[in-house]
Amino acid sequence: MNLLAIETSCDETAAAVVAETGDAARPWLLKSNVVASQDAIHREWGGVVPELASRQHLRDICGVVDRALEQAAVTWTDLGAVAVTQGPGLVGSLLVGVSFAKSIAWSYGIPLVPVHHLAGHIESLVLHHGELPLPSAVLVVSGGHTSLYFVTDPGRYALIGRTRDDAAGEAYDKVAKLLGLGYPGGPIIDRLAATGNDRAYAFPVSRMTHADRNQPGATAPPGRLPPDLERRVDFSFSGLKTAVMRLVKEKRGSRIEDRGSENPTHRTPTVDPRSSILDPTDVADIAASFQRVVVASLLDRTFETARWLGARSLGIAGGVSANSRLRAEAEARGMKAGLPVFVPPLSLSTDNAAMIGAAGLRQLRAGVTADWTLNALASLPL
Ligand code: KG4
Ligand code: ZN
Repeated sequence: MNLLAIETSCDETAAAVVAETGDAARPWLLKSNVVASQDAIHREWGGVVPELASRQHLRDICGVVDRALEQAAVTWTDLGAVAVTQGPGLVGSLLVGVSFAKSIAWSYGIPLVPVHHLAGHIESLVLHHGELPLPSAVLVVSGGHTSLYFVTDPGRYALIGRTRDDAAGEAYDKVAKLLGLGYPGGPIIDRLAATGNDRAYAFPVSRMTHADRNQPGATAPPGRLPPDLERRVDFSFSGLKTAVMRLVKEKRGSRIEDRGSENPTHRTPTVDPRSSILDPTDVADIAASFQRVVVASLLDRTFETARWLGARSLGIAGGVSANSRLRAEAEARGMKAGLPVFVPPLSLSTDNAAMIGAAGLRQLRAGVTADWTLNALASLPL
C-alpha cells in the first residue's frame, strides 16, 4: 500500500510516498522524499514570516506533490491513503497541506490520516532504522520544540521533559542572529563552531534545581521518575541566550572604543554593528562555547533520564539532530553507557514529509483517520 504524505507546518513544503513492507521489524519503505525549502525567502527577514510562508506553500505544493509521485513511480490511483501534518505549527502554513490532503482524499475516495508533527520526527527513526529496541527515550529537538518522550510500545509516546522557554533550535537561530550570521542559524553555528575554541567562554548550563516560587509542575506523569529527577529533566535555553547577548554587547562596546581610539575624529563604527564588529575569532569561539553547552545540557538530561527509566535505546530526532557535535557526543556517550543511540539520516532530520508518511501509516494501522471536519491546529499536545 502506498501512502502520500504532506508536510507544510513551517517553512518547508514537502511531499513523500511511503509504502508498507509487510515486515514488522522494518515496517516502511521510503519511495520518494521531496522538500521545497523557503530558507532563501525568510533569510532576508532573519526568521520565518508566517504570511510569506503560507503564500509560498500555495505556490509550491502542486509541483512538490507531482514530483513526489513521479520519483516514486506511482500515479494517483496507486495511492491507498493520504497523511498530512495537522499541527503543531503555523496555522496558515498547516492549512495549505490540510486542505490539499482533504481534496486528494475526497477525489480518490481514500482515507485521510492526521499526523502530529512531533510523532513524525519520532517515527523518522523507525523509518530509517526499523523498530527501535523498546522502551526507548527519544529527544525531539527542533526549532519549535525540545521534548523528551518515553516510548514504551510502537506509537505510544509519554512526554517526560520539555523546554521551559526557548527550544534548542530557536536558541541556535537567535544566537546566530546576535552574531550576525544569517538564518537558519543552526547549520551555520555548527560549521563555525568546528573552527573555534569551545572553552573560550564559560556559558552557564541551566539546571532546574533551585526552588522557584513560580515553578510549574513536573512534565513527567506522576510517579514515573524519582522526585529529585522529575524537575531536573526539563530544559531551558533562555539564560544561555541572555549570557551570549551580554557577552556580545560587551565585546561590541570594547571594539567600538578600539576603533574610536584609532581615529579620534570618528568615534562611531563604519561597519554594521550587528555583524562584522566582532572579531571572526571571537565569533567562532562564542559559537563553539555556546554549542558545547547546548549539547551538554541536552545529553546530560537525556542520558540520565534514559538510565532511570531503564530505556533499551535512545533516539534523537528533529532539525537539531543534524548537529555534528550532538551526533558525535551522543554516539560516544551511548558506547560508554552500552546504550544504542539512533539518529535519523540528515535528509530526515530537518522537516520532511517522509516522516509524516511513516507516522501516518502507524496511525492508519491503529485505525486513526479523519473526516472532512479535520482542521489545522497551531498547538496540539502529543
Ligand atoms: O525540525 P525542524 O526542521 O523544524 C521544526 O520543526 O522546528 O528544525 C529546524 C531547526 C532550526 O532551528 C535550525 O537552526 C536547526 O533545526 N538546525 C540545526 C542544525 N540544522 C538545523 N541546529 C544545530 N545544528 C545543525 N546542524
Ligand atoms: Zn520539525
